[in-house]
Amino acid sequence: MGLDNYTGDEKIVLGIDLGTTRSAVSYAHLQAGSVPKVRTVTRWPGQEDVAGDSKCHTLVRYKSNKPIAFGADALDAAEDNTHLAKWFKLHLHPQSMRTNANLEVPPLPPGVALKQIYSDFIKYIFDHACEFFQSSSHDGETIFNRLKSTFTIVCATPNGWDIVQQSFLRDAFVMAGVLPQGHDRDRLQFVTEAEASVHFALEHSDGDRWLTVGTNFSVLDAGGSTVDTTMYRCTELTPKLKLEEVTSSECVQAGSVFVDRDAERLLRLKLKGSKFEGDEYINEMLEVFEKKTKRKFDGGPDPSVIAFGRARDNDPTYNISKGRITLTSDEVKATFQNSIFDIVLSCENLIGRSSKFCDAMLLVGGYSESPHLRATLKEKLGSRGIQIVSIEDGVKKAAAEGTTIWYIKQLVRARAVRATFGTNVTRIFNSTDALHQERAAEKFLDIDGSTRVGPLLSTWVLKGQVIRADQHTTFNYHRTFKKFPGKGDLAGFEMQVYACDADEKPTWLYRHSGSSALMPGIRKVCRITGDLSGLAASLQEKKGGDGTTYWQINYNVEISFGTTALCAELHWDEKGVNKTGALTLIPDSVF
Ligand SMILES: Nc1ncnc2c1ncn2[C@@H]1O[C@H](COP(=O)(O)OP(=O)(O)OP(=O)(O)O)[C@@H](O)[C@H]1O
Ligand SMILES: [Mg+2]
Repeated sequence: MGLDNYTGDEKIVLGIDLGTTRSAVSYAHLQAGSVPKVRTVTRWPGQEDVAGDSKCHTLVRYKSNKPIAFGADALDAAEDNTHLAKWFKLHLHPQSMRTNANLEVPPLPPGVALKQIYSDFIKYIFDHACEFFQSSSHDGETIFNRLKSTFTIVCATPNGWDIVQQSFLRDAFVMAGVLPQGHDRDRLQFVTEAEASVHFALEHSDGDRWLTVGTNFSVLDAGGSTVDTTMYRCTELTPKLKLEEVTSSECVQAGSVFVDRDAERLLRLKLKGSKFEGDEYINEMLEVFEKKTKRKFDGGPDPSVIAFGRARDNDPTYNISKGRITLTSDEVKATFQNSIFDIVLSCENLIGRSSKFCDAMLLVGGYSESPHLRATLKEKLGSRGIQIVSIEDGVKKAAAEGTTIWYIKQLVRARAVRATFGTNVTRIFNSTDALHQERAAEKFLDIDGSTRVGPLLSTWVLKGQVIRADQHTTFNYHRTFKKFPGKGDLAGFEMQVYACDADEKPTWLYRHSGSSALMPGIRKVCRITGDLSGLAASLQEKKGGDGTTYWQINYNVEISFGTTALCAELHWDEKGVNKTGALTLIPDSVF
């Protein structure tokens, strides 16, 4: 499934995958008339011994709030009073993804904000990727200098992230000096890691063998912190492969670092009271566990030996002999247990929610290389007739390489929305409506003389609804004013967007009318702001029930979910002419 000749303007596209433990960058130099070649940065400082390693460590070491080392070089703690920023992606995960109640996220270095860490790390990988491009492409320096002010970046994010995290990253790219303030938004695009991975997987798996029109398949991206599962249906194979999401995707924090975390708990408990209970020994054991034991473990009965120390390190009561500790198969299995339980549950949720049978499941991401995880998925899902497809090469770089392929191919035409979205409205009180009765005591008299209840959610899209990338839906709203509104009143128009992650359709937004406490499961996502002063000409003078004058404007908000983000546009009628105004989305930042 190769790439076609490119027909657009010449440009460089960079695909960036910022992973919890590892990050990677892919790129392509797009030129009209030639078939794009997607490459991955395969040399990272400090990793010279692992030739061709396409992933760098997602690490930054700080001293007095200043970054002093990045990637593999940051592992070296030679200097005193330094702090390592590790697994910092976990801090950006939204509340809805934090299923693991006892999760202890490693703290950020003191006095360094998360955005600063992201910005420092982005600058590092971007600079290095640019250097790599120039040194490893023919005439790289000239091409780079010609195109450096127009490159497009595609950044992969977990399924569970939305506009809040996207906007955080956009700020970090600006802070890093990679993109200028006020850049054209298309220069930084976002794609889910799963969607990027499916582009990689179809490019690298023998799709011809199992993919036909009507095949439903899932992609399970098992990484360091998140495991994302998305189900697609193939709707067209030729002339162009087209995919549609079948149901809303799953995103669970059950990645491979949780196996490490449980291994740490196990070792601390097991060695309590022994001379090996100190951090130094435990950390050495964990390093070997992460690099070898965990990766080799296949669920078989053989014990696992962790060689952590020297010949003089012995304690038979703790199964330690000559610097090696032996763990039984059940002990190692236990470190995988929570993570695998959550992964299987999340797959079952996805499959259960879908009305279609899942024919195949493609495994990508570093953790998907685990023989134990693969075997368990084969056992649990294979027995239901689902074919487990693994790609032998380079699954770790799937998301990174997939982002650039995504930019070029865009195979997915429809996506299932992960949450219910909408805005706040009030409704005319209807005494026969059971829902309105719930809050009958809170009904109030509106400017137009009507008795109303609210705020309720005016639903734009329902969780799980499948939306085509080019689909727009229009909602009519009106706003009333007691006094003739001045220019300022109309120019500063604002609308709050809410989301609900629950499966049921939400109703009331707040615990009580007038309260600022949101109902459980409801969250604020962003505000839509715009200049409605163009609407001044279409203001209508009206009389309320008691004869008082008020003013009303009617407008439509057109919502689309674009490729991967919420978009909104304002429309109104001005003396029979349809007018359009831009609306800006301002994310409700929680950072
Ligand atoms: N054979 C294996 N068995 C178990 N875990 C493995 C194996 N090989 C790699 N891993 C783990 O995979 C993780 C790295 O995978 P990957 O690069 O896909 O994750 P990431 O991109 O850092 O995380 P995320 O995508 O969740 O942010 C590491 O935690 C590593 O320990
Ligand atoms: Mg990843």
